[in-house]
Amino acid sequence: MQISSTTQPAAATAADTIVVGVFDGEDIPHDVADGTLQRLLDRGEARRAFKRLAVAHAEDKRWIVVGLGERSRFDPERARDVAAAVHGRARELNATHLCWEVPHHLEDAGVAALVEGTVLAGYRFDRYRNHPDDDGALEELILSAHYEIGPTVATAAVIAAAQNRARDLQNTPGNELTPERLAHRAQEIAAEVEGVSAEILTEQDIRALGMGAFAAVAQGSEEDARLIQLHYEGPDAAGPLLALVGKAVTFDTGGISIKPAMRMSEMKFDMSGGAAVLEAIGAIARLRLPIRVLGVVGATENMPSGKAMKPGDIVRASNGTTIEIVNTDAEGRLVLSDCLAHAVAHGAERIVDLATLTGAIISALGNTHAGLMSNDDAWSAQVEAAGRASGELLWRLPLHPDYADGIRGRYADIVNVVETRKAGSIAAAEFLHRFVGDVPWAHLDIAGTANDTGRSYAGQGGSGFGVRLLVELARRLA
Ligand code: BES
Ligand code: MN
Ligand code: ZN
Repeated sequence: MQISSTTQPAAATAADTIVVGVFDGEDIPHDVADGTLQRLLDRGEARRAFKRLAVAHAEDKRWIVVGLGERSRFDPERARDVAAAVHGRARELNATHLCWEVPHHLEDAGVAALVEGTVLAGYRFDRYRNHPDDDGALEELILSAHYEIGPTVATAAVIAAAQNRARDLQNTPGNELTPERLAHRAQEIAAEVEGVSAEILTEQDIRALGMGAFAAVAQGSEEDARLIQLHYEGPDAAGPLLALVGKAVTFDTGGISIKPAMRMSEMKFDMSGGAAVLEAIGAIARLRLPIRVLGVVGATENMPSGKAMKPGDIVRASNGTTIEIVNTDAEGRLVLSDCLAHAVAHGAERIVDLATLTGAIISALGNTHAGLMSNDDAWSAQVEAAGRASGELLWRLPLHPDYADGIRGRYADIVNVVETRKAGSIAAAEFLHRFVGDVPWAHLDIAGTANDTGRSYAGQGGSGFGVRLLVELARRLA
């Protein structure tokens, strides 16, 4: 999809379809010559209520009049939502070149959200279909405003494209998206974008570095694990080194503590944190943000086999901590422990990790908010604010020494699960907490938001959750 902006009137563009939004209590801002659009409103065929759509033909173009609801309630999330609704109708009508007339007095974040909503809604994953039911795609999106919105539109296009690429990685099944393939994607990003370099460690390197927790997960699989590192050095980068750490279990069977068969196929999404980290760094670099970022992604399968880790096994992570593996299905924290310690050892001054870590976070927060757990109130607030601004919402849960007591081990320093299953998401976070020390760190448990969130613009399959949030955070740090 080509995306551009113009200060010309929408009618003067080459678009075949023009979108005109109307807020409650307001009228058509720029009508066609004979007043067709206002007449639609006056007759009640077009409505001002949120997401109501009407279609008219005039001046050799198609016009979509869409209700925007109350102006005071219109926020970027609503903009993404309405853009997705418009995109759906436009495609039904076989529109190929769509122009949004940007509503008057919309802030930049709203303009960006119109782009995001359209691009995200236009996403298809039909690579494996011989007969895609897709009826074609939008070729061009133009935004017309009275003022210069070029940079806002271009930035939003970069971010939304990155989010869609994360969704491609998520949706690609485990037989194709192996740890090696994910590492290859990181190398592609490094090759494509200025300022980014990739360094890939193999399973042998992981063992040699003493990452016994990560290695324990990897040992059960025939697919060789990878520790993927991306470095981005922005122009005139100042400020703290931001480490983005991602869980990328390319398929989680549970291992010897095997999962039930029902819906196990969804465990291909267990690499969603890693996908978000890689594509967010790609976007941050494309935007040339003046910061330094270190990406650390732990990629492996979690499989049962004759070589797999067993319940009761004790391993030593790279920071020396010994771990009794009580349940092999709590593998994400094992992978992340060594990745977090690695980030700290490489000078991370701020850390965000993203992981589809616990089913418990889905029980607690559903598909709307990701869980946020942090050892630093100021950092937590910054990350949460980036979430709010990007529409990728977070809700903070507490850490507390009482929860940390729960993971104290009998045979080793710590255990990887608390068998009472109480506060499962927090217990997992307390486990990770052991590996970050005092470095300001925010853990995002995205098990509920990574896929099938039911949003209008990214409701099915991988959602790309985290890409917008991480880029927003980076923009705020720059
Ligand atoms: N990848 C899962 C978490 C998950 C569950 C993500 C459902 C998405 C949907 C993780 O590795 C896991 O298996 N966690 C266990 C931890 C338990 C054994 C303490 C869980 O949540 O059941
Ligand atoms: Mn698991
Ligand atoms: Zn998992």
